[in-house]
Amino acid sequence: MKIVKTISEVREQVRQWRKEGLTVGLVPTMGYLHEGHASLIDASHRDNDRTVVSDFVNPMQFSPTEDLESYPRDLEHDAVLAEAHGCDMIFNPEPEEMYHKNFSSFVDMTVLTEELCGLSRPIHFRGVCTVVSKLFNIVKPDKAYFGKKDAQQLAVIRHMVDDLNMDIEIIGCPIIREDDGLAKSSRNTYLNEEERKSAVVLSKAVEIGKSAVRNGVRECAEIISEMKAKIESEPLARIDYIKIVDAETMQQIKKIDRPALCAMAVYIGKTRLIDNFFTEDM
Ligand code: PAF
Repeated sequence: MKIVKTISEVREQVRQWRKEGLTVGLVPTMGYLHEGHASLIDASHRDNDRTVVSDFVNPMQFSPTEDLESYPRDLEHDAVLAEAHGCDMIFNPEPEEMYHKNFSSFVDMTVLTEELCGLSRPIHFRGVCTVVSKLFNIVKPDKAYFGKKDAQQLAVIRHMVDDLNMDIEIIGCPIIREDDGLAKSSRNTYLNEEERKSAVVLSKAVEIGKSAVRNGVRECAEIISEMKAKIESEPLARIDYIKIVDAETMQQIKKIDRPALCAMAVYIGKTRLIDNFFTEDM
């Protein structure tokens, strides 16, 4: 497995693979890889002849008050994990390689970014769409893999690819959880012991929401209020949002009368965690 730092090295390698008639999968990440990322790399390795993992903490998707500086980084660990799961090349650029000093072009999206994390993190999806477009242009993959934990991100990327006629298949992969249910996330490393125990409340609330839907509850307000009560029973938890939206448009709905996404963001201490379920996956 190669680790490369420059766009030209990626292009040269991919060109070579293409000459050999090989297919290419891309797994975009911000590094500090865990089993969630491993499952994306596994899926890409299964579907494609070659797999590229991008490992880049993208400054453009963090607001000045967010955790860009403290975001965990460990390329050595990432390389071991990625290689073990069938990655052929890690692309680990410096910010200057991705954004030269006169950088001034952006990919942005309306509607789908108005709710959920888009509301709490106003510049986030512009940064995500811009960097993912750049990665698609650099790697030119056949398929790209994203986790369903970042459900809004997955919907936004699918929509961007459709809007902008990008010839790439987007594959959404299931949330991978710890044994106690907490969704795997690089940000879980911010939690101290007590917070880590409290964080289980997110997946417990997800289970409550799912069982309400399974039991035939269709009023979103009722489902949300059951989930909210669970989160509020945990003293270290503070709700940013719990919402139910149309799974495609990401607009709020009142009744589950179509494929829906129930998503939440909750602070455990200072750490903001997300979790969700798609009704179609139940
Ligand atoms: O999901 C992430 O880790 C990031 O948002 C992504 C897609 C790699 C873009 O920086």
